[in-house]
Amino acid sequence: VNTSRFRQTLGLGLSLTLVLPWCGAALAEPPAPPKLSTLVPAGELVDQARLYAQGFETALANEKEYAEDADKLKKDANTLIVVALVLGNYDQPNDLKAAAPALLKAAQQLAKAKDYAAAKAALAPLQAAMATGPMATGPDAKPDGELKWEKVASQGQLMKQATLINTKLRSGMRRFDAKKMDELARQAAVLTAIGQATVYDTHEVGDDPEDLAKWYKLAAEMRDVAANLNAQIRARNKAGATDAVAKVAKNCEACHEVFHPE
Ligand code: HEC
Repeated sequence: VNTSRFRQTLGLGLSLTLVLPWCGAALAEPPAPPKLSTLVPAGELVDQARLYAQGFETALANEKEYAEDADKLKKDANTLIVVALVLGNYDQPNDLKAAAPALLKAAQQLAKAKDYAAAKAALAPLQAAMATGPMATGPDAKPDGELKWEKVASQGQLMKQATLINTKLRSGMRRFDAKKMDELARQAAVLTAIGQATVYDTHEVGDDPEDLAKWYKLAAEMRDVAANLNAQIRARNKAGATDAVAKVAKNCEACHEVFHPE
């Protein structure tokens, strides 16, 4: 009796060992984000959103300007989408929280525009959303609409932006110029938002549940290493920031090794 019980237990144990890891991975859900206020200050993202909006206005002043700036405008519009997603879901009041759903939609419209007329048409709703502000709705206002954590922007465009940001941050570390600190902190904050949004865009992940778990881990890590960089820059810690920039680069490489091999 004992032997057969032992066998049963062994058998059950073995099948659980085989099945459980697979079940666990198959059920992998996107990890819940940490409190966003523990990652980066909302004010830096709000400032960068305003800078993007100003840039759009310049790029859409006339057709010639648009022709020259169209690529940058597309990258920045896609980035503003994820910045809006993060500000709308932010756990503290901020100037663009109430406007975030409208801002996200307008930025999506701009990001998709294929010509000057379409881009120009998207500008007015975007400016209207930016102008809503806390004055009209109160600083504690909830987002005016629903904002889900889901794929919202073009991954390719966000990656191009991440490359530009990464380059700026790396060259910024060399001089660590006091006058550049706010800008560098904003760039790291935006990279954090890109990482957070990347968690939910799993279209490059195949059917293997283990790959899905890897994706969540690497994208969350992108967010967290960028948030650490933002904190080091705000603390004016050159050694810490330089180390954080190296960690950002390692994360890019680690993810590309699995999901975007050359
Ligand atoms: C979580 C995984 C992940 C992380 C982290 C990641 N990438 Fe990517 N990257 C991808 C995937 C997947 C693609 C292919 C996406 C596509 O083409 O739609 C890609 C594509 C790219 C491209 C090519 C874009 C294009 O369309 O030309 C560049 C450049 C890039 N990544 C830069 C970076 C940089 C810089 C970082 C770090 C700051 C980074 N990536 C971090 C997954 C990642």
